[in-house]
Amino acid sequence: MLLELDEKYTKSFISKESIAAIEPEVMAAQEMLHSGTGAGNKFLGWLDLPENYDRAEFMAIKEAAAEITKTVQVLVVIGIGGSYLGARAVIEFIKSQANNELNKDTPSIYFTGNSISASSLADIIKLCDCKDFAINIISKSGTTTEPAIAFRVLLEMLINQFGKEEAAKRVFVTTDKSRGTLKELADKEGYRTFVVPENIGGRYSVLTAVGLLPIAVAGVDIDALMQGAADARLEYMNPDFAKNACYRYAALRNILYRSGKKVEMLVSYEPDFTMMCEWFKQLFGESEGKDGKGIFPSSAVFSTDLHSIGQYIQQGERIMFETSVFFEDAKEDIIIGFDPKNVDGLNFLAGQTLSNVNRKAFQGTTIAHYDGGVPTIILKMKKMDEYNLGWLIYFFEKSCAISGYLLGVNPFDQPGVETYKRNMFALLGKQGYEELRSELEARLQK
Ligand code: PA5
Repeated sequence: MLLELDEKYTKSFISKESIAAIEPEVMAAQEMLHSGTGAGNKFLGWLDLPENYDRAEFMAIKEAAAEITKTVQVLVVIGIGGSYLGARAVIEFIKSQANNELNKDTPSIYFTGNSISASSLADIIKLCDCKDFAINIISKSGTTTEPAIAFRVLLEMLINQFGKEEAAKRVFVTTDKSRGTLKELADKEGYRTFVVPENIGGRYSVLTAVGLLPIAVAGVDIDALMQGAADARLEYMNPDFAKNACYRYAALRNILYRSGKKVEMLVSYEPDFTMMCEWFKQLFGESEGKDGKGIFPSSAVFSTDLHSIGQYIQQGERIMFETSVFFEDAKEDIIIGFDPKNVDGLNFLAGQTLSNVNRKAFQGTTIAHYDGGVPTIILKMKKMDEYNLGWLIYFFEKSCAISGYLLGVNPFDQPGVETYKRNMFALLGKQGYEELRSELEARLQK
């Protein structure tokens, strides 16, 4: 099996009886998901996507990526939430967090439109100034404020630099097939468009054009990524609860949650996995945090964070469990040398690979945290490559859906995200928000 779920370090926290007790609930959740009878059933397109994706669109993505790679030095990807995290997570995990600085034959890729920070957008402007650049604006709704602002600013810069006609060839729009401001603009200006399928929500969309176009521009093998997800899809259709790692993961985290472990920390020993943790946090946080319920998703990269929050994990409030994703093989390994003088006292490590030292850190930390009252679910994978990552993405997506149904929430909506937007629009004086504006202004004066 490509992904091994190791439950050993949950044993003293999860009884056999609690696993047996939750099994019928998992089976009911599976039935709801596969029959499309559960909450949010209009957004199940991701479930069969790795098998049923639009092949023509996939080809068009590859062609556009090849053209972008050939013609520009910089691709600016504009988007937020599900229209941002997946692409960046895959690129950084497969290539590197430092990919833009490393020698490569693909354009540098910068992400923006994922905050309203002027300083941050100003940096992107500097990075594009006098460079041959293109834009991929991604927004399913086509109306999200953060990316819309960044697009307005960067489009003006693109037009000033290249003229309207040439600029139009450098704008790639990923949005709804037929609706929204962005789609209307793209049709009017002749920008090339890619589709966010209607039945796939933002946080489940990394394997659509939303993620695939920037991912392909980075030189990541998107065929292998899809194949990994397709094979995971087949694997996790298995209705045998004992053998289905995806269902067991959903079950374990819910048992832990019900026993008071309200915080899940996704842990990796690879800094290049950092943005995958961010993607995971959105996937689970937005899917489960509602109706006063939900496991709070957090993350850490070890051993880095053992020197910051390690103390809390070991001895602070006993409210958390860990899910550790461990990759057997490093992308590249390094052998620690021998120093005849042994000035640093490290000769006991001479001749060892760094990845072996990392493995010992993983093993030692897991036992320490378990002994300290932090159960750990281990997800072991072999390689840090596209196939493994596609598999892992599908594993998390499906376990998130099952887990949401176990919690009794709709894992495919995000009504709470609107509240800050309403307040922000009101405070900015947008038409239609006058009453709310007066109320908020009065509260701010108090
Ligand atoms: O998961 C989601 O639906 C959200 O995080 C969206 O992806 C995010 O709000 C961006 O929305 P849009 O793609 O419509 O700009």
